[in-house]
Formats: sequence, structure tokens, C-alpha cells
Amino acid sequence: MDDPLVRIGLLGCGNVGAAFANLVVDHADAVARRCGVRLEVAAIAVRDLSKERGVRLPASVFTTDSAAVVADPSIDLIVEVLGGLDPARRHIIDALGQGKPVVTANKELLAIDGDSLFHAAETAAVDLLFEAAVAGGIPLIRALRESLVGERIDRVIGIVNGTTNYILTQMTEHGTSYADALAEAQALGFAEADPTADVEGFDAGAKAAIIASIAFGARVVADDVFHEGISAVSASDIEYAARRGFRIKLLAICEQFDDDAVSVRVHPAMLPIEHPLASVSGSFNAVFVEGTAVGELMFYGRGAGGQPTASAVLGDVIDAAQHLGQGSHGSLGQLAEAKLRPRDELSSAFYLNLAVVDQPGVLASVAGVFATHGVSIRLLEQDGLTDEARIMFVTHLARESALSATLAELAALPVVRSVDSVLRVIDGAA
Ligand code: HSE
Repeated sequence: MDDPLVRIGLLGCGNVGAAFANLVVDHADAVARRCGVRLEVAAIAVRDLSKERGVRLPASVFTTDSAAVVADPSIDLIVEVLGGLDPARRHIIDALGQGKPVVTANKELLAIDGDSLFHAAETAAVDLLFEAAVAGGIPLIRALRESLVGERIDRVIGIVNGTTNYILTQMTEHGTSYADALAEAQALGFAEADPTADVEGFDAGAKAAIIASIAFGARVVADDVFHEGISAVSASDIEYAARRGFRIKLLAICEQFDDDAVSVRVHPAMLPIEHPLASVSGSFNAVFVEGTAVGELMFYGRGAGGQPTASAVLGDVIDAAQHLGQGSHGSLGQLAEAKLRPRDELSSAFYLNLAVVDQPGVLASVAGVFATHGVSIRLLEQDGLTDEARIMFVTHLARESALSATLAELAALPVVRSVDSVLRVIDGAA
């Protein structure tokens, strides 16, 4: 008997869409043999029909009418790689409403509106799968929602943005300035012409919201995620970190505390060089998962790029196609209301880099501010320059609220010229 044919409607044909269509062309026989379904990309909706995309399919599969692809009764399954909120959201809801499983790479939409999309999929009793939305080719979402679904996840720490990891790696390994490293990332095609989403932590924040929702079974949206980017990280911070045995990384941190409250945040942090994430360099991604029973796990790979991301899409498509044949679907169950722990109540060690006037008594008055707010100093280093000095501190664990009060008072001291950097330090506890 022939393997059941599953006809795919592909919405969007950029790097990921084109790579996916070609993967299906190349692997359809192997997939049929191993998985018992025959995949065919039957329609591809694009905005510009004249653009050459390198897809090895006849021109007749291309159309500009994405709604017609979704509505076509001969299309069994939709792959959405358009990105952005609308029309992607409308197409996904329409497809699910017609009982068509959807595979999407749309992190932005999932991080804002995931819950209503999951609900629509549940109501239609079909799959909504999104492995490619987080950390590209790394099979993280399936691991969290299937292999680890019975696990109490305490913490997930991820390097989930390749652009910023590339920039920080160039700064660390080659002494490149932030501006030059960003320009290199743009020339290599990692960073967009407007790099804000990557360098200011929006992209990692969306991914963190999705990871937290799946890891903790709670509704976490992009707005719940505190995020700081890497644009203020200086050569002096990088150099200090290296000297003290740290690496600076942009981390997405999702934590679940004993009372089930959660915290989800993205910020640059100093990570001890022995931490497995510290050696993740260049544009690679990695995600470190800590579970109560399973202990520590790490997932590593390419977090972006056409081929790796298309590989994740194909895995989801095969899963959804098999479920379609069986009349079954995967489910995330009911996501609970997330109890978000206010950031002021979190604790961390901090690194501060201050420019101060170089004169007697300055160190004492600066240190006194830390003491006033109960922030204990662990490391202190001072560099006398000509008329000013630079002081670098690393604190012991301190409440975010105490640190904010310390910073406000430091900034108001006449002898403090500027507070140039504040970074969190991961040392055992995040
Ligand atoms: N711009 C992202 C990155 C990839 O640099 O990792 C897409 O999420």
C-alpha cells in the first residue's frame, strides 16, 4: 500500500522556507520509508513571484494568495514561516479552524499570543508545533514538552541569540570593539540592518517566554520578560571578566522557585569560565536545563540559519503528518496562570564599573554607599588613570532592590563621574 500523502502549504519562502522545501524534495523518499508518510510541498505563498529562491520545485507551486493556500481543501498541513504578527496569526487560526495542523517558526507571535493559538489547536484537536521558533535547529521544545514533561524544571539558562553571542565572542577573543563586532555580524548576515531586536534582547526575550511557558506549564508572554541587551557592554568589562575567570554572555534565564513563582529575564551576565555555557562561542546557541530528578542537561547547536531551522520545521511536519494519519494530536494541556516574582525580590551578585574622581577619601565614600544598603563587596579593583580612576566591584548576593538603591545613591555622589556598567554575575545561583 502507498504511504498516505500529506500535501503541505508553505506560507513564506525566505531562507527557512526555501531550505525546508528543498529538504522535503531531497528527503521525501527516506521520510516515507522511515515514517510512513509521503510529504509534498504542494503550494508556496510568497509576496514576490519574480524573486529567485533556489527551490527545486516547478514555478506552478508558487502563488501570491496565502489565504487561498490555507483554504485549499487539497492542502492538509500548513507551515508558517512568514514571521510577524499579521497576517501570520490570521492564517494560523484559519488553518487550525479547518482542522489543518500548523508548524510555525514564529517566536514573536507565540510569545505574544501563544495561549490563544494553543487553545485554537486544542479546540480543533490538531497539532500546533513550533520547534523552530526557539534556538533554530536545536531540538529543545520537543525535549521539554515530551521527554521532560514529568520533570520539575528548576531553571533553564540559554544562549538563544546567535548574533549577540557572535558579537560578545569577537569582543572576548579578538579584542574587537562592540561597534566593529556588530558591523562584522551585519556583514556576515547574522545581524539585521536594524539590529535592535537582537542586541537589545527582544529576540531572546520572546524565546525565553516560550521556553518558560513550556518548561513550567505556565502562561508567560513577552511582556513578562525583563530584558537588557549588550549594547552597553564595554571592552573594559570584557577584559575585567577575562582576568577574573568569567565570560560575558547574553543569557535568557527562566527560573521556577519552591513556591512555584517564576522569573523570566534576559540580560548580559558574567558566567564562570567553568560553566558549560561559557565555552559556547560564535553564533552557536546552547540551552542548559536543570531539573529536580534529571539534574543538568545541555543542548547545543545552530540557533539560526536556513538549513538548521528548516530541519526543526521538517521534524515537526513529520510528527504532525503522522498524527494526522492517526487522528491524534499532541497537547500542551492547560497552561496555568504564571506567578511572576517581582524583579526587586530577586537576588544576584553584581559587577559594577565606575569612573570616579581620583582623590583621597573617594573609595571610602563609595564603599560606604554599598554598606548603607547592606550590599557586601566581594572583589574590588582600582585603576588610577590621570585625573580620574576606575573602580570595579563584584558584590556578594544582593537583592535587586538593594542594588538599585545603591546605584541611585552612587550616581548622585559628586565624586562619581559615571556608573559605566552594571552586570549580573552568575556564580552557582543565578
Ligand atoms: N536573530 C536570531 C539570532 C535568529 O541571532 O539568533 C532568529 O531568532
